[in-house]
Amino acid sequence: NSAQIGVTGLAVMGRNLARNFARNGYTVALHNRTVARTNALVEEFGHEGDFIAAETAKEFVAALERPRRLVIMVKAGDPTDAVIQEFAPLLEPGDMIIDGGNAHFADTRRRERELREQGIHFVGMGVSGGEEGALNGPSIMPGGPKESYDSLGPMLEKISAKAKDGAPCVTHVGPDGAGHFVKMVHNGIEYADMQLIGEAYQLLRDVAGYSPAQIAEIFRTWNTGRLDSYLIEITAEVLSHVDAATGKPFVDVVVDQAEQKGTGRWTVQIALDLGVPVSGIAEAVFARSLSGHAALREASRGLTGPKASPLSEAEAGAFADRVEQALYASKIVSYTQGFHEIAAAREEYDWDIDLGAVSAIWRGGCIIRAAFLDRIRSAYDTRADLPSLLSDETFAQEIADAQDDWREVIVAATRQGVPTPGFAAALAYYDALRAERLPAALTQGQRDFFGAHTYRRTDRDGSFHTLWGGDRSEVDA
Ligand code: 6PG
Repeated sequence: NSAQIGVTGLAVMGRNLARNFARNGYTVALHNRTVARTNALVEEFGHEGDFIAAETAKEFVAALERPRRLVIMVKAGDPTDAVIQEFAPLLEPGDMIIDGGNAHFADTRRRERELREQGIHFVGMGVSGGEEGALNGPSIMPGGPKESYDSLGPMLEKISAKAKDGAPCVTHVGPDGAGHFVKMVHNGIEYADMQLIGEAYQLLRDVAGYSPAQIAEIFRTWNTGRLDSYLIEITAEVLSHVDAATGKPFVDVVVDQAEQKGTGRWTVQIALDLGVPVSGIAEAVFARSLSGHAALREASRGLTGPKASPLSEAEAGAFADRVEQALYASKIVSYTQGFHEIAAAREEYDWDIDLGAVSAIWRGGCIIRAAFLDRIRSAYDTRADLPSLLSDETFAQEIADAQDDWREVIVAATRQGVPTPGFAAALAYYDALRAERLPAALTQGQRDFFGAHTYRRTDRDGSFHTLWGGDRSEVDA
């Protein structure tokens, strides 16, 4: 009568994760604040494996074999702290609390530190793949003390998604908040991918003049090539869906205001703190918030600008091919930015994160799973200290090949007044990185002019200041 793992918090993600453990042969202790939910799970899915339903926190803890492994699947934020406070006093040194929610990594760092004092191992664990993934195999991003992975790892490897080569989509990401950090960036990249796909869709609709059903077909074709991914696949499904009530394309009856729960926003907030330019991800977050400003949009409808006029059928096909190039090139840039953010955090927090391993565990189970991740993995396998994904020869070559079309698409979008902030930000990032000189030199001059903030010179070491208000001679600063 002892469970190898326990799950508390049996909303859909917790319930499905518990069932996944049970289906893989583990005895799973169950606990939920309202007991009815626990009982419902056992009633409905009890036949899938061995469950021990616990009514109280005490019973739940008593049902677990030692060292105890207790997974909490509750809302991120205060509810997580409340559950930790409820269970921590009942645990013993060596026991493990595993937080599978979308926690902010700073909270995870704090919780890990506090629980470490009691000898409890706290594992902040990113889980991606939605409800379906939780049940049939998610991508799992556990952080926390390395020794916790010795006993937890094999269990996670069992329940995780498997990549095409059979490798489990889980690895010990790094200490304390590293797992939740990587999950956060996963979501930031998810936002960027979705925004880029959205822009491609809008261009195919307004500039190429295709219907949602035709665009679904185009996405299906793209999904057989280098863009092969879960998000492209479901995009085709959503676009080909027809609303039963009206007979219209489903996408035309949905209110065009995108919501967000926060992980994309965090990715950008933290990037600002780390000084990492994640412009593509930021544009994706801003595009969602702009879409939600209904009154502002309503008040702006009268502003003038071009109206897109669809291309001829013959031109439309060629344009669609260009959009594919633009989408792919922009995607490379988003991932470049996301991995840069992880690399910067690794430096800042002294986390030993293996970027190749991160791309490997995103190959299956998670929302951004894609054939593309295998290429990122081989880029890091070839060169672990790759300064940027754009420095990888294969990616650099692909962008070189795509860039004429990429630029053309942005020109067409600009001319026709179709907003493509994701495509444009990605291209600007690319052009800025490769630029010989940036106007940052002018910025430095301005700062020195109005605030004596000093500047460095290209030809000599040191810091300098020009006496702008005087004879404009230069002094050492
Ligand atoms: C996942 C998803 C999951 C969640 C998103 C949705 O990896 O399984 O990312 O965590 O569905 O966070 O995010 P928004 O509600 O912010 O779009």
